[in-house]
Amino acid sequence: MPGFEFFGDLERKELNDVLETGIVMRYGFDAARKGRWKAKELEEAICKAFGSRYAQLTSSGTSALTTALSALGIGYGDEVIMPAFTFVASFEAVLSVGAVPVLVDIDETLTLNPDAVRKAITPKTKCVMPVHMCGSMADLDELKQICEKHKLLLLEDACQSIGAKYKDKYVGTIGDAGTFSFDFVKTITCGEGGAVMTNNEDVYIKCDGYSDHGHDHKGVDRGADLHPFLGYNFRISELHAALGLAQIKRLNEFLAIQKKNHAQLKSILSEIPEITFRIIPDEEGDSCTFLSWFLPTEEITRSVVSELRVQNILAGNFYWYDNNWHYIRKWDHLKNAASLNRLNPLQQEALIKLQSTNFSASNEVMNRCISTAISLVWSEEQIKEKGEKIANTVKKVLSNTYLPVL
Ligand SMILES: Cc1ncc(COP(=O)(O)O)c(C=O)c1O
Repeated sequence: MPGFEFFGDLERKELNDVLETGIVMRYGFDAARKGRWKAKELEEAICKAFGSRYAQLTSSGTSALTTALSALGIGYGDEVIMPAFTFVASFEAVLSVGAVPVLVDIDETLTLNPDAVRKAITPKTKCVMPVHMCGSMADLDELKQICEKHKLLLLEDACQSIGAKYKDKYVGTIGDAGTFSFDFVKTITCGEGGAVMTNNEDVYIKCDGYSDHGHDHKGVDRGADLHPFLGYNFRISELHAALGLAQIKRLNEFLAIQKKNHAQLKSILSEIPEITFRIIPDEEGDSCTFLSWFLPTEEITRSVVSELRVQNILAGNFYWYDNNWHYIRKWDHLKNAASLNRLNPLQQEALIKLQSTNFSASNEVMNRCISTAISLVWSEEQIKEKGEKIANTVKKVLSNTYLPVL
């Protein structure tokens, strides 16, 4: 990651195709667009690449989640179980449809702990939303079983894990619906954009309308379209879709590079016995956007992070525990229900309750975790140098630390 590292002729050609006609909107203007339908083409390419029956592009991964939640019928009075480690967009989408995000513990997969999900189920639970963080995946067999047993919907936030597979199926295509983000830092990018995938025709039709003000897209022109339900404007533009179309053609190339670079870095860090790695439910299916690794204690991890900073090599190594955007510890705005528009009483009550919810199990995982972003443009020599610098930093910190023998 990310795909922008490889922008080139293909991206320029697709963008120029759109600029030549000047039709940068995805709907209408049939004659003027001269047969160029980039958003439609990208939706078809997504279906083909990931084996999904339907795909609906949107303006972002966040709006893809909002669209999917609405199309699945989730709203006021419903609870959505999701992990305490994700990007803020996941709970933003849940709040935006009027539902309550119920945040629960993660484990060393860095995704939902199935036991924590079981414990969080109430009569109001409508949906489980695993987030396939940092290129890998949640334990989808367990989560599917839970959903089937309790008749819950499964919505996969696969915004960070395009191309990852779980038991030979692409993440994002396994639940009732799944989403991708194509923002600037993702494995393939539209600049901004997102997609909902689903195998359910009814859900797809709802996504199609909801993301375009409720248009049913059946009229002879846009003015003649009907509006069977309310919608919003979460449309992608043709320019954004064109960029994504160029990028999706190169996804397999990007994934192969990620896997190779990830394997080389992992083999260097594996030489230190105190370093352990994230548990991956299907190791073969990892999209390898990040290498996530653990140190034995928070104290050691903090010292390693400080030392990486001192040596000016921290960039690209993420200590999520201190990050304001990815872990509940720093989501004060959420825990204070600091919303500009008034939240509904169920949401307010649930968010304030988060202030006293015990996330010690997640803290124990997150305070020892560092994720190293895998670049597409690293040379073997650069990975060797990077890996050895990180390894030497860890060794230096460990040599100054007393580790009790357990
Ligand atoms: C897990 C997760 N969900 C949702 C999103 C939202 O995607 P976007 O930035 O396209 O709105 C992101 C973006 O980083 C993400 O990481």
